[in-house]
Amino acid sequence: MNIYYPPQFWKKKKLLFGITGGISAFKVVGFVSHLVQAGSDIQVIMTKAAQQFIGENTFNALTRKPVYSDLFESGEKILHIHLMREYENLVVAPATANIIGKMAGGIGDDLLSSCFFVDPKKVIFVPAMNVDMWHNPIVQENLKKLVAIGTRVMVPSSGNLACGERGEGRLPEQEVFLETLYYLLCSPQSLQGKKVLITAGPTREYIDPIRYLTNSSSGLMGCSLAAAARARGADVTLIGGPMSVRIPSGIRYIPIVSSQDLKTATLEHYDKTDVCIMSAAVADYRPSNPSAVKIKKQGKTELILNLIQNPDILSELGRRKVSQILVGFCAEDGDLLVEAPRKLQQKNCDVMVANRILPGESGFEVDKNKAWFLNKNGEMIDIPLMDKMELAETIIDHLVAFYFS
Ligand code: C5P
Repeated sequence: MNIYYPPQFWKKKKLLFGITGGISAFKVVGFVSHLVQAGSDIQVIMTKAAQQFIGENTFNALTRKPVYSDLFESGEKILHIHLMREYENLVVAPATANIIGKMAGGIGDDLLSSCFFVDPKKVIFVPAMNVDMWHNPIVQENLKKLVAIGTRVMVPSSGNLACGERGEGRLPEQEVFLETLYYLLCSPQSLQGKKVLITAGPTREYIDPIRYLTNSSSGLMGCSLAAAARARGADVTLIGGPMSVRIPSGIRYIPIVSSQDLKTATLEHYDKTDVCIMSAAVADYRPSNPSAVKIKKQGKTELILNLIQNPDILSELGRRKVSQILVGFCAEDGDLLVEAPRKLQQKNCDVMVANRILPGESGFEVDKNKAWFLNKNGEMIDIPLMDKMELAETIIDHLVAFYFS
């Protein structure tokens, strides 16, 4: 299961986790365990109610640190001040209607609520409750008050709730939680207010109703770019062919099948876009006359398919370009650094990302990529072989440096 954050992101992060009395507290055990394994320093604070759902020993064993719950813990330091100065952020998960109300109402009567008042801008609420409690106007008003002073909120997921009802109010699943936390903690938000359109994955060109021509693109590079742009505050639309990887959270996803679909969807969104990244592996050809029924093999020892060329979408976008920053991808196993600048110019792109295809090492169906970043001023940045999520962050940061700073 892909989770879109760079592997190094959680290394040495110092996070406080505030656990309050909701049934979904059990899910936070998994989050904490994952973050500790990823190299974060996690300190857990529990309210008295949280201890009704999960034991202190569980978090103590996972973090190998004492769990704090008592405001009046005796020691050398004043605990709530010390913790909030020492740690980068406080994640309150699950955050009940009660803790949200207490903090919005100015009540600090235990360790966790007192921590909040030391530095509300460091606090991230992850509310989890029944759907009607979540939509209760008092809860929503309280959250607005907290957001107004710089506290951040992770919107709950929808689905089955512990009470047996369905709706909004679920604590997000681990991959959504970790990805959204990465988005919330990532700074600076260098693409805030920008619309980014990304295409990803393969296309399918149908021969008959059940067979098709395709390629081995997994979509991982495009999905990683979508998450990296989202983490920098962009409003991201991802148009993707049938991919073998999970779609990142927090973005608008438009599924397509064929290159014709990809063209229609991309042109529909292109005019409103600030940055367009064409990382999809578009099929160059499609059957000229697909069969409406399944092709039978009886009586045929040979089957000849006639193919016609698909429209080059990137070239079309290059022709229609007004103020968009247009980024193409070029994957080659041959003369990459000759082909990439030629395609950049021919397709009227601003940037071309050149990928080296080395089966099993770089390019299709592997987690790593070796790339070069070329712009239309003739500048070329050699990026070493790296994890695709790390590469996605590097590409987005180069785009920001060239065009948005
Ligand atoms: O010409 P080539 O296929 O190598 O160019 C690759 C770039 O062009 C990629 O950005 C890809 O998404 C885009 N492309 C396209 N339409 C096609 C083929 C490729 O937009 N029919």
